[in-house]
Amino acid sequence: MRPLILFLALALPALAAAHSWIVCTDYLENNGWYWDEAKCRAWPRSAARHDMRFGKFGNSRGFTHRLDNHPEETALCKHPRNDDTEYTDFTPMAAYYLGQKVVLTHPTNNHVADVRCTNSTNVIDTENLIFVVDGDEDPCCIDSDKLIVVEDMGISPFGRNIDPVITTTYPKPGFQNAPKYCEDEGNAMGTYNFTIPMDMKPGRHTFVWKWIRSPRVNPFTTCWEADVFATKVQRDAHYAATGQTTVDLWDFYQINTIVDGEIVDPIDPVDQIISG
Ligand SMILES: *[C@@H]1O[C@H](CO)[C@@H](O)[C@H](O)[C@H]1NC(C)=O
Ligand SMILES: *[C@@H]1O[C@H](CO)[C@@H](O)[C@H](O)[C@H]1NC(C)=O
Repeated sequence: MRPLILFLALALPALAAAHSWIVCTDYLENNGWYWDEAKCRAWPRSAARHDMRFGKFGNSRGFTHRLDNHPEETALCKHPRNDDTEYTDFTPMAAYYLGQKVVLTHPTNNHVADVRCTNSTNVIDTENLIFVVDGDEDPCCIDSDKLIVVEDMGISPFGRNIDPVITTTYPKPGFQNAPKYCEDEGNAMGTYNFTIPMDMKPGRHTFVWKWIRSPRVNPFTTCWEADVFATKVQRDAHYAATGQTTVDLWDFYQINTIVDGEIVDPIDPVDQIISG
């Protein structure tokens, strides 16, 4: 019995800590500190099935999707595409416009090198990519030639011998952009941004996030659909018709004044910007 217990004690935290996924596909605040579902305008495919909106941020409820030992043979997306059933009134599909910056949110699950709480030697990050799918069918798998890279969102420094100050300075590129990581290493919010290319064909597209944490751990993916419009005016008309706000996203550091790590002039952007 004892070896088994020891094995579980060692293995379970590692398993629990291994995952991440995209929670929001059109978040209104770039580089933000704390998750607020009121700032999320659109959700990934099948978000409602896994209670992504009203459940605790950082709790996967089976939403995480890791490609198995043969990633080239594993379904790319958690659930097959069905735009009628995989989006709901509470977890609607995104609408973007050409040239728009898009903010995505994800839980950190212990994978940020911030020396105030995590030894940077023990963190690893390898690849953070956004794809758009060529055509209307779900691609089979991660090797599909239907996947077109939209943006490489980069990686932040980690590992041995890096300046500790770099690990505690935000914003950061890639997965580790989570300023309040040390308050809740498992469930803190990280934000990514990527830009819709000007030469993307307007229309409905499937987007895919792919994260390789360690070369020894298989990739994680999240899939979502979005209606891409040629102009912001058209995008706004679409969101207005579906009862959504049409504000453009803001940057946390542009609307707040931070002194010694504290917000000195707190405003509530949800009240002032979304309804204002
Ligand atoms: C970080 O981890 C490495 C390897 O496990 C260790 O050598 C080093 O002393 C640790 N640093 C701190 C500050 O704990
Ligand atoms: C957007 O993300 C990239 C990394 O992918 C980063 O370099 C850039 O600074 C971010 N832009 C803003 C405005 O935060």
